[in-house]
Amino acid sequence: MGKIIGIDLGTSNSESEGRSALEDGMDRVCEKLDQEKAASNEGKLHMTLETIAPDMKINTHLSDDGLDLIFRKARTFDAWRNRSVQDDLLRQVYDLAKMGPTSANMCPARFLFIVSKQAKARLKPALAAGNIDKTMAAPVTVIIAHDLEFYDKLPKLFPHVDAKAWFVGKPEFIRESAFRNSTLQGAYFMIAARALGLDCGPMSGFDNKKVDEIFLNGTPWRSNFLCNLGYGEPATLHPRSPRMDFKEACRIL
Ligand SMILES: Cc1cc2nc3c(=O)[nH]c(=O)nc-3n(C[C@H](O)[C@H](O)[C@H](O)COP(=O)(O)O)c2cc1C
Repeated sequence: MGKIIGIDLGTSNSESEGRSALEDGMDRVCEKLDQEKAASNEGKLHMTLETIAPDMKINTHLSDDGLDLIFRKARTFDAWRNRSVQDDLLRQVYDLAKMGPTSANMCPARFLFIVSKQAKARLKPALAAGNIDKTMAAPVTVIIAHDLEFYDKLPKLFPHVDAKAWFVGKPEFIRESAFRNSTLQGAYFMIAARALGLDCGPMSGFDNKKVDEIFLNGTPWRSNFLCNLGYGEPATLHPRSPRMDFKEACRIL
């Protein structure tokens, strides 16, 4: 399968007729899909965008600017510029992050956005001393949590098999699966936030039990980690710490 990251549909006259180039392009893709489906004996589709839309220009990877934005130049921030984060941007971040894969599409992560002064004040006593000032100053602090009853949603999220039955009555498997997959979703969330121009400050220096008591009492949700969000103040950054190179951290067998 080819990698599909972006489609450049070029220019079109149709915008003047009230349709976008993207709408036209998607119509062409759908038409081609219908033809391929009809031609296939079992109606099974094994194709890439290259086969269904050979006339489109296809970008097979992110630009250098994109890679810089989400990885190479992205940093963990402790200090924040005086710029707020709109609720709509938080929705956009979630709408990207939710597309990241999880086991059986279980999507166990839940996100609590701590924005108001009152909510920040409630969070404060649960924070490690070194995390208080940066968190109080951040425009948003996200509690990345997981739902220990995530399996109730599996009939909707993974409808083709009875996946709920894999978890019911297995608390250790539930806990392990929820933690693993909500951690992944927290990572997807941070990459999505960076892709949309935000900076992140993830933290595990806090008392999970206290956060659960303060914000999640009486629910099956449990906190995993916290992440400050906003527009970082680069002047306060220390030099980037080293990473291990491929030889140290990887093996190809
Ligand atoms: C899960 C997680 C927990 C972290 N916990 C804390 C924390 O409690 N306090 C803190 O100051 N930094 C914390 N960090 C920040 C890391 O130290 C930082 O991301 C790392 O050193 C890389 O920094 P860089 O992104 O600027 O290269 C945490 C990061 C992650 C991903």
